[in-house]
Amino acid sequence: MPRVIVLDNLSQDGLDLLESAGNIEYEVRTGLKGDELREALLEFDGAICRSGVKITAEALEGNQRLRAIARAGVGTDNIDKEAATRRGIVVMNTPGGNTVSTAEHTIALMLALSRNVYPAYRSLIEGRWDRKKFIGTQLAGKTLGIVGLGRIGQAVAARALAMEMRVLGYDPFLSAARAKELGVETVSSAREMLPLVDYLTVHTPLGDETRNLIGAEEVQMMKTGARLINCARGGIYNEEALVEGLRSGQLGGVALDVYPSEPCTDSPLFGMPGVLCTPHLGASTEEAQTNVAVEAAELLIDFFTTGAIRQSVNMSPLDPKTLDSLRGYLNVAYRLGLLLAQMDHCPPTSCRLSYKGEVAEKDTRLLSAAFAAGLLEHAMDTEVNIVNAEVLLRERGIELLEQRSSEIGDFGSLITAEVVTEERTSVASGTLFGNNMPRLVQKGDCWLESRLDGTLMISSHRDTPGVVGKLGGILGAHRVNIAQMSLGRAADRPGGEAIGVLALDSPPPAEALAKVLAIEEIERVWIVRLPPAVEVPAWMGG
Ligand code: NAD
Ligand code: MLT
Repeated sequence: MPRVIVLDNLSQDGLDLLESAGNIEYEVRTGLKGDELREALLEFDGAICRSGVKITAEALEGNQRLRAIARAGVGTDNIDKEAATRRGIVVMNTPGGNTVSTAEHTIALMLALSRNVYPAYRSLIEGRWDRKKFIGTQLAGKTLGIVGLGRIGQAVAARALAMEMRVLGYDPFLSAARAKELGVETVSSAREMLPLVDYLTVHTPLGDETRNLIGAEEVQMMKTGARLINCARGGIYNEEALVEGLRSGQLGGVALDVYPSEPCTDSPLFGMPGVLCTPHLGASTEEAQTNVAVEAAELLIDFFTTGAIRQSVNMSPLDPKTLDSLRGYLNVAYRLGLLLAQMDHCPPTSCRLSYKGEVAEKDTRLLSAAFAAGLLEHAMDTEVNIVNAEVLLRERGIELLEQRSSEIGDFGSLITAEVVTEERTSVASGTLFGNNMPRLVQKGDCWLESRLDGTLMISSHRDTPGVVGKLGGILGAHRVNIAQMSLGRAADRPGGEAIGVLALDSPPPAEALAKVLAIEEIERVWIVRLPPAVEVPAWMGG
């Protein structure tokens, strides 16, 4: 039964869902870091977290078991996605579940700043009844600038418009038509809106382009008395620039929910007049926490029961229907990779996959990744699957090229894989019989029809009478049973190069192999081990 570790506090509804799934065991272990976290992760197949735990490359070091991480929330900046991808771990998040709560928190901070809610209350409980000091400003009629018009940015825009604000927005991925629909006036850069807005709010991820988006220079470009809100990620506003802006009076107020380093209990802004801060509470409502916990639990339950991959931030989605429709071909591609890896030990420089017939209409990127997973499986000490195989190939400087043609040849569908090394190009083609019978139909220049499972003895030999008899005699003498046999020859002409594939019930002993190699007509022999016909790897839904 897959085991799931819950690394941050999670709403009870999410835990109840994991419990009721019946096919998952879970354990709650919060507050882990360093070696403790790394060691704990070694014992689990899946993990659920919020933003508290930091799943770094070190935390994943040596992990060959973890297959999926579900983030109950939007930002995945606390997870090293590159390290996860390299280890074949799917990272999924739950966008949407906390959008409304975070948008409401943004509006709450904006209103609280404008009406001096916190300092007025504080003055009151200190014994003062001061009605003049706390004169505020109305939101209606003011201009709000929004940087980042994704889910939360759009929800903030809708609420601000309802409060009769004018809304300016900047987002490089928002079309002008959608902005118009939303009632947002777009500008061509964040800087362009700075002199025009009374309030500025950001709703982007933190990245190279958004880190220090608002620094000293940008603060100077703003209207005197402008108010800034950040409910996205700490570091988008430069805190020193905010301090300076407040001191000089250039800024009228700053409200922060997020900090460059969290937890944060000490900031130069804390206690300054005009500042209002909350400890990352944007998504902290009962509704949002229930939504994201339930969604995260569902993602892992689906992943472990059907292999479905949804809302992944490090690979393309693979729903159960697609997986079902592709499984047979994924299996062919994967087994071709396993086969070629065992037949040539030179490092490849590139792999070329060609898809012909009906299979060319499918998602061939996934099929190529399955081939790469088979090719690398035995070479790596980490699990290789369709999540990380392409990255691992690329990291090794091996190109993965694809070619597709819908033209139907001798087979309804044909997958041909070529592995190019410095010395030679090895070719194998496979097809699918029925829904789940992978077949090898080409090796090198020879066409044949062989199984693609179990132990195969593949020989390349001269096509002369008696070779098959000699092979059978040696194997029989060593009590190795031949389950199936297939022969093929180049250009289908007698006397030339030929290939024999013998499916064996057990691997031949070394002595038998030595005798086979001593047969005059035999050039080379390979023993290839493939999984039994009914077995598919876990990532293929096995
Ligand atoms: P989203 O992916 O729906 O939207 C992000 C938007 O930012 C996208 O439309 C993208 O095009 C835009 N963007 C990216 N780079 C940009 C740039 N340089 N300039 C302008 N726009 C840019 O994400 P979301 O769900 O709206 O979340 C937004 C942020 O809020 C995330 O960082 C998330 O982690 C954070 N968040 C915080 C809380 C909280 O508790 N405070 C809760 C939820 C989300
Ligand atoms: C998020 O990215 O979803 C938020 O920061 C909320 C959270 O971490 O709980």
